[in-house]
Amino acid sequence: MLKARQAVLGLKEYHPPLAGRSGLRLDFNENTEGCSPRVLERMRQLTADDLARYPEREPVEKIVAAKLGVTSEQVLLTNGVDEGIHLLCETYLEAGDEVVVVTPTFGMYEVLAAATGARVVSVQCDGEFRFPLEGVLRAVSPKTRTMIIASPNNPTGTAPTREEILQICRAAPQAAVLVDEAYYDFHGHTVLADIDGLPNLFVARTFSKAYGLAGLRVGILVGAAAQMRPVRRVASPYNVNAVALLALPEALQDGDYLACHVAQVRRGRERLAQHLDRLGIRYWPSEANFILMYIGSRHRDFAEAMRQRGILVRDRSGDPGCDGCVRITIGTSEQMDKALAALEAVATELRLVKGVSA
Ligand SMILES: Cc1ncc(COP(=O)(O)O)c(C=O)c1O
Repeated sequence: MLKARQAVLGLKEYHPPLAGRSGLRLDFNENTEGCSPRVLERMRQLTADDLARYPEREPVEKIVAAKLGVTSEQVLLTNGVDEGIHLLCETYLEAGDEVVVVTPTFGMYEVLAAATGARVVSVQCDGEFRFPLEGVLRAVSPKTRTMIIASPNNPTGTAPTREEILQICRAAPQAAVLVDEAYYDFHGHTVLADIDGLPNLFVARTFSKAYGLAGLRVGILVGAAAQMRPVRRVASPYNVNAVALLALPEALQDGDYLACHVAQVRRGRERLAQHLDRLGIRYWPSEANFILMYIGSRHRDFAEAMRQRGILVRDRSGDPGCDGCVRITIGTSEQMDKALAALEAVATELRLVKGVSA
């Protein structure tokens, strides 16, 4: 029996509950509408030759760079944001270094950082899940070599301000500060333009959320050209597959599709918030395509009762500071009709409703 590295043996297991996800999937913050029809059309034109060749990433990186208004030396396409984080950690962390993350947050940060042998320093948000700027600044030490900040954050939906991020970058010039903008499209605020003035700032984006391409696994990592060069050395030249590379230009060109989807999610988010207000269920105002709500001790029963009504939601009670919380992804308006009706019925059944006024 081989023995895995000590850092690997100590890792927390991260097993998202992917099995048996039938029904309306409001549990993984995916796009529940499906991707742009132009992407599907391009997929239908795939040839055997497209699949026989090793994929060429650079031409698509140029397109992505032009879209983002940066140079292609500043951009690396990755196998989802997950791989971007992985590469950054592999590039900049030595065993024994420190990585600062805010909790609760996306679980893969801790896994990918700790796998290098670095020590993860977690800074807990307050009860409002506001970004804990003071705590993060206090956590910075000479050993801090990476900081990972989700903006907006998952599972809370809250986001730090640009000024807070810049303050962190300046307070830790020895650290790679990765701002994970996976939910950027729903939020609309970015620090991408600040990369030019801050050599330790990196921004990650994904096609898994607003673009509806989670299955293709494509993300973007952007940083100062000189800081991206070593990251590129760690990456496989074929890390993004040919099908994904063919899809991306179509997805990027279909701005109308993206705008419609984002507008629909924002409307659904507002509707859900109003519904929760009416039911007297606490929630945290969200900048992303989901809302975290406080269900209390019956969080498991709630998720199960929703599942029985054909709607999957994600119990986030196990996340630090999230006891009793459940996260629900925003779907299309028809899907939200169904979800809101189920939510009201389940909340009434479980006696969670405090102030129904209708
Ligand atoms: C904050 C955050 N970052 C990254 C990801 C994963 O992105 P990708 O599918 O591009 O790996 C998620 C997925 O839920 C997320 O919530």
